[in-house]
Amino acid sequence: MSNASGPTARPFPELPAGFRLGAATAAYQIEGAHDQDGRGPSIWDTFSHTPGRTLGGATGDTACDHYHRYREDIGLLRELGVDDYRFSIAWPRLLPEGTGPVNAKGLDFYDRLIDELLAAGVAPTVTLYHWDLPQALETPSDSGSAAGGGWRVRETAEAFAEYAALAAERFGDRVERWITLNEPYCSAFVGHAEGRHAPGAEEGRGALAAAHHLLVAHGLAVRALRAAGAREIGITLNLDRLHAATDGPEDQAALRRAEVLHNEVWTEPLLSGRYPAHEDETWAGLAAGPWRLPGDLELIGAPLDFLGVNFYRPVTVTAAPHRAADPELRTAVDIGVTEVDPYGTRHTTMGWPVVPEALTELLCGLHARHPRLPPIWITENGSAETDTVAPDGRVHDTARIDYLTDHLAAVSAAVTAGVDVRGYYVWSLLDNFEWARGYGQRFGIVHVDYDTLTRTPKDSYHWYRGLITAHHART
Ligand code: NOJ
Repeated sequence: MSNASGPTARPFPELPAGFRLGAATAAYQIEGAHDQDGRGPSIWDTFSHTPGRTLGGATGDTACDHYHRYREDIGLLRELGVDDYRFSIAWPRLLPEGTGPVNAKGLDFYDRLIDELLAAGVAPTVTLYHWDLPQALETPSDSGSAAGGGWRVRETAEAFAEYAALAAERFGDRVERWITLNEPYCSAFVGHAEGRHAPGAEEGRGALAAAHHLLVAHGLAVRALRAAGAREIGITLNLDRLHAATDGPEDQAALRRAEVLHNEVWTEPLLSGRYPAHEDETWAGLAAGPWRLPGDLELIGAPLDFLGVNFYRPVTVTAAPHRAADPELRTAVDIGVTEVDPYGTRHTTMGWPVVPEALTELLCGLHARHPRLPPIWITENGSAETDTVAPDGRVHDTARIDYLTDHLAAVSAAVTAGVDVRGYYVWSLLDNFEWARGYGQRFGIVHVDYDTLTRTPKDSYHWYRGLITAHHART
């Protein structure tokens, strides 16, 4: 395929026939309207409103105001020609207290969004949990019936199943693909041990309990979705392509610990029906903790229709002293490992090295290790760059076009090597609220001016449109 008229002279990567191309977002990062039409607060509202938690005190109160501008955003998707759009439902819009009374206006919003997508010829992919836990499940309110405790308690997994059933019953006739959880690693460990994400806790056992309950929540949601007739059900993981800094035994042992924490805690129960085998007492604690009930592993390991993989960069680790003063934290993320950056390549504004072949290696590694691996979808991939609207009114984000070209080529290489990858969603349709990093990190293929909320498609948007058109014409 040629790309003669596009913003770069490089040819489009060749993708297999039937391969689907999409774009992704998440509710708290784009919707805004945080207190409108009956939406309850989430842990991210509380966290972002707590001084010192996000860069510059940024919050998702307005974000891209997608809640009011969704028609314009779907217009952008229609023009782009994507096959699929991945968005998340805000749990506290449907169930403001997490459980119990349903907010009809919340259901109506996603009805309109889904109908408008279908009218634009775009298939909806729904993520049920992209980190916005109803606050009432974390700390109970006077009016709510929930006990609190968030993901540390099993009741939250049960509430998630109730929410999944509600969403599936209402939207199941129109949603093509369901993702139960987005990156449970971040919810469990970044949220409950590192404290960099909501709810901002620094706990050991709490983080392990959260990991287990997130997996149980996934299993219960799969059951609820199947009961409601959903066909395409999966989960999205941020699996890491890990390397050790050296061949020395200490770094190799550090690599093993990191493999468990970042990858196997999730892939083993989900794909093999067991917790990772490791001599370290941390993981023994995870498997044997009081949170585990008979039948949990069967529930968690129920067959999936696909595995969603989010990929941005590889990670290299080295052995390091434990950092936490509290030994309790050593039962979670403080595993005597630190990241180093030996990559002599370009880095994005997130500080992440650009190493596309790591994506091919990750996919081939998964394929080799997991006999029960379902088809894979790349549910997120993209780069944050310094994007400004130029005097000619355009955003010349050539570095992003290169990043996307190279990573799509890396996916294609994995397919050629025998990995069953069905599709790809660029992260993200819009510049948006990058969690604790606020609004400075721009991942969109559409630029958002946060003062005026004007959307300006970047050169990468036009490039992606050309790629999609050429792919559809060819296959
Ligand atoms: C993964 C998360 O799912 C998404 O919300 C985030 O914006 C991207 N990574 C980029 O960091």
